[in-house]
Amino acid sequence: MSDKAILEINGKKHEFPLVTGTENEVAMDIKTLRSVTGGVTTIDPGYKNTGSCESAITFLDGEKGILRYRGYSIEELAEKADFLEVAFLLIFGELPNKAQLDKFHDDIKKNSIVDEDVHKILDAFPKSAHPMGVLSSLTSALTAFNPSCVNVDSEEDMYQSVVRLLGKFPVLVAWTMRKKSGLPLDYGDKNLGYVENILKMMFKEPNEEYTQSKILVNALDKLLILHADHEQNCSTSTVRIVGSSHAGLFASISAGISALWGGPLHGGGANQAVLEMLEGIKADGGDTKKYMAKAKDKEDPFRLMGFGHRVYKNFDPRAKIIKVAADEVLGDLGVEDPILDIAKGLEKEALEDPYFVDRKLYPNVDFYSGIIYRGMGGIPTDMFTVMFALGRLPGWIAQWREMRLKKEPIGRPRQLYVGETLRGFKPLEER
Ligand code: CMC
Repeated sequence: MSDKAILEINGKKHEFPLVTGTENEVAMDIKTLRSVTGGVTTIDPGYKNTGSCESAITFLDGEKGILRYRGYSIEELAEKADFLEVAFLLIFGELPNKAQLDKFHDDIKKNSIVDEDVHKILDAFPKSAHPMGVLSSLTSALTAFNPSCVNVDSEEDMYQSVVRLLGKFPVLVAWTMRKKSGLPLDYGDKNLGYVENILKMMFKEPNEEYTQSKILVNALDKLLILHADHEQNCSTSTVRIVGSSHAGLFASISAGISALWGGPLHGGGANQAVLEMLEGIKADGGDTKKYMAKAKDKEDPFRLMGFGHRVYKNFDPRAKIIKVAADEVLGDLGVEDPILDIAKGLEKEALEDPYFVDRKLYPNVDFYSGIIYRGMGGIPTDMFTVMFALGRLPGWIAQWREMRLKKEPIGRPRQLYVGETLRGFKPLEER
């Protein structure tokens, strides 16, 4: 392939370099476009063709259904690693050795105390508040309790900000859920693993010992790993763009939480929407064909939740792993959930239906994740989004850190103005 692209505008030719990534992806470098063409820009709503950065964190090939963190396949990581190892890998670029992992975990534990005054903020929320709104606000509030700026040129400062957030965030997640369930707020146990501790903080009843279930720990570990990063999706791009103004880490992550919460089109709202859809189908007699027809009817706003993806035009590799995990976890826990059968029925029909085949619509990560969370018991449906955020945290941190270390410029897209041209002001009485 040639190493440059030629663009002709008004008979004048301009050359732009083609750059190739380590997986042979090719991009046209248009950094000089405006200056050499006298102001021409590009227009690409939804950034469907626009790379916003160079990144060495996650590789994704949507056509082939490949997802890798720092070069390791998601399949291998989900099988062999734990969430904390994956977090270290994403953030610092290499798998930790035993000493690095122990130190990382110790530092996270040392930084897990949340100021008691954060309780008061939490108390002010009504119980009916959506947990993502609460989590986003509490994460932003951490800025007020930890006001010192991160010196990005100091490796130690950056490291401290990372472990501080990884320590406090699960506490906020657990508190958000306990507030909703009316349970007293709880701190975890420093003797436990990162994921074990999260489960204990979420589920420990005040009058009972909490017994760890290996099945739940493994299931949560796997779900968190599968959600840990997904390159430049909506919430991650939000974290990078907010961070590009040099807003602090807590504020940038809080913005990412809001983007993830946004609605059923992005991961956050989607697993909740999948479950609500499956429950709706069950309550309506379980007729999957009726809902397939609705999904295909352009007059009907109904979409098959958990199907389709902006970048995967093949099986979402995470969905394959989660489907197997759903069977295993529900089997191990002895849960028989008719919703799982409805989900499998829908999937089978969709994979054979020309509408879905032609549009390359496959199940995405959210199609089965809600079913596992439900099978795990005790996690309210609107907390599923929060569980996604818990998993995505290391990815957001890694992307924020990469953006700051590379000293990326402030994110500030251009636009094509299509409004009124200059016109005179009319006084009020003449309008
Ligand atoms: N059910 C029925 N039709 C669909 C669906 C669906 N779930 N998804 C896409 N289509 C159709 C759509 O109507 C359009 O048809 P046509 O070409 O005839 O107009 C075509 O497929 C392309 O759809 P699109 O909306 O242009 O595709 P997109 O890349 O902009 O949207 C999506 C991707 C995920 C927003 C969309 O597939 C969708 O709404 N899916 C359901 C919600 C969902 O599961 N979201 C979770 C995303 S995965 C987690 C994450 O990483 O955020």
